[in-house]
Amino acid sequence: MEQTLKRIVLGVTGGVAAYKAAELARLLTKRRIDVQAVMTPAATHFVGAATFQAITGHPVFTDLWDDRIDNGMAHIDLTRSADAILVAPASADFLAKLVHGRADDLLSTLCLARDCPLLVAPAMNRQMWEHPATQRNIALLKDDGVTLLGPGTGEQACGETGFGRLLEPEELVEALESRFQPKLLWGLKVLITAGPTFEPIDAVRGITNSSSGKMGYAVARAAIEAGAEVTLVSGATCLAPPHDARFVPVTTAQQMQEAVEAAADTANIFISVAAVADYNVLNRSEMKIKKDAHILTLELAPNPDILAGVASREKPPFCVGFAAESENLEEYAELKRKRKHLPLIVANAVDEAIGTDAVELWLLDDAGRHILEKADKLTQARRLIAHIAKLYNERNA
Ligand code: C5P
Repeated sequence: MEQTLKRIVLGVTGGVAAYKAAELARLLTKRRIDVQAVMTPAATHFVGAATFQAITGHPVFTDLWDDRIDNGMAHIDLTRSADAILVAPASADFLAKLVHGRADDLLSTLCLARDCPLLVAPAMNRQMWEHPATQRNIALLKDDGVTLLGPGTGEQACGETGFGRLLEPEELVEALESRFQPKLLWGLKVLITAGPTFEPIDAVRGITNSSSGKMGYAVARAAIEAGAEVTLVSGATCLAPPHDARFVPVTTAQQMQEAVEAAADTANIFISVAAVADYNVLNRSEMKIKKDAHILTLELAPNPDILAGVASREKPPFCVGFAAESENLEEYAELKRKRKHLPLIVANAVDEAIGTDAVELWLLDDAGRHILEKADKLTQARRLIAHIAKLYNERNA
């Protein structure tokens, strides 16, 4: 994680899900985020303050009148150096309190007397969540600039199923990380292609490749986190499209080219991650081809090079290519960069790149080679976005 988030006040309110906040505190602490736990009195009925104290290494505060803070100003002091307050779980009652700006316990007072972002992760019974009063409160909190994390859906402690579940601790950490990424691409339009293309042979068969789309989707997410307006043009994958992106699903290279050309006019940056099939089938059959004993010949015609087409425009967006190579990685990738007139190409080894979760990336630009040491694809995507933002700003300075 970019260490823009160094210290957090973790507010815990009264609900069964309070036990999950202990795991959340552990995950945050593991990521070197300093966690100050503040519990409502009701929360202490569900989980003990000693648990949070042991995990975070700090005394836990529950009381507005706590005299462990010298000047009696716990309601201000505890958030003074915090980068955010995260209330998880946030009960229906606590959300209602926030809406009205009430300050009758330490946590609600801290939420009122703060100058850092407030994030809430609701957790409650399905009917409480669906109640118009809660929904009204949620809308008002959003208007007040409070960030909502979740709730999720699923089986609840009461045995019912529906919305109202606290997001899992890992999901909360992920959401926090996203929220606090530096806004390096603020206000820019970023066009991204991802996944494989599929070139039909007949009504059911086709030529494709094993691209999972994971890298392209991670790049899309990192660009959104960095504040960009993202269009993601994607071949078929098993991945859920990222929230907050304009999503254009396509099948063939031809369709991908049309979608890219339409969006490229207004894009500031084009990142071409898709594994575009090199050929399409000329003698394609509309009907399913019947199997017989004869040799079947497919006529293949080269597909358009989408990236090269955009990069050779008179006023191209800042174009970034990807090159997966099985040998001579740097030499071949650099040749591609030159041939396609790209300021930046991302090279990786084929055996590492396709379908895997962790990769090493080599970024090749006019200044030479920059190695992004092996890491998961989202981490690499964030590093890549930081590099792109730097080059883009240098160009447009
Ligand atoms: O030439 P090669 O396919 O190895 O180049 C890879 C880069 O070019 C990738 O960024 C890929 O998305 C892009 N590309 C494209 N259209 C093609 C082939 C590749 O945009 N037909």
